Amino acid sequence: QAMTKKPNPSDSILNIAHRGASGYAPEHTIPAYALGQKMRGDYIEIDLQMTKDGHLIAMHDETVDRTTNGTGWVKDMTLAEIKKLDAGSWFNEKYPALANPAYVGLKVPTLEEVIHRFGRNARYYIETKAPEVYPGMEEELLRVLKQTGLINGRGRTNKVIIQSFSQESLLKVHQLNPRIPLVQLLWYETAGTAQITDEEIKNIKRYAVGVGPNYDKIDQAYVSKVRQAGLEIHPYTVNEPSEMKKLIRWGVTGMFTNYPDRLHQVLCEE
Ligand code: G3P
Ligand code: CA
Repeated sequence: QAMTKKPNPSDSILNIAHRGASGYAPEHTIPAYALGQKMRGDYIEIDLQMTKDGHLIAMHDETVDRTTNGTGWVKDMTLAEIKKLDAGSWFNEKYPALANPAYVGLKVPTLEEVIHRFGRNARYYIETKAPEVYPGMEEELLRVLKQTGLINGRGRTNKVIIQSFSQESLLKVHQLNPRIPLVQLLWYETAGTAQITDEEIKNIKRYAVGVGPNYDKIDQAYVSKVRQAGLEIHPYTVNEPSEMKKLIRWGVTGMFTNYPDRLHQVLCEE
């Protein structure tokens, strides 16, 4: 008698490799993204900054200080200047137990280089960082996505999610192309449990498919409210299996993690 495969509810929970598998390799480098794919991440998470000459690069901070051997603001540097920097040695110095000679001399990748390396079958979860500092960032992002074929001729994509803390930036993307799925990032700082109002949910639903809150301030009621409203919820940045399990019980639809291997393991056990 043929056995029917039991549907696995965790199949649909997205494993988002935060800055790549950045718990193991220098964030936002090709090896970190490659490791994220190898560890079964569903999405490569990319933070964007824009150079003086208008190129989108993968970097979290507005300055190159923390994640390269250089100093200065990305907005004041050309891509040629950025390309002279070493984006891997800092990691070996900071995490000697994880150091790898292959990380020495790694370059800061452009968004185009990342997409060319991982191709149209990979999935990308892209954040517009500091959009107020970079006029034209959204237009350039959409140009790159079209040119690399991640957005088709009809303006559709099933390989890209765009995220931002800036509602203005997301609204701009939405205006330029209403077919791209967007996620509104949220940051809750104060002690106690985060609350989201009906009004906020209604407002976010006008342009986004989901929200991305910091995981440590939300509770089951928060997750239920967002899910009942029909929004996705992808908390960040969840690195401990016990926290991953708790969030899955509460009904999140994905999460950002520096350790996609740990999340994959948790999802396999569900
Ligand atoms: O994009 C989700 C999460 O990464 C937001 O925080 O500072 O790591 O970009 P950050
Ligand atoms: Ca991010």
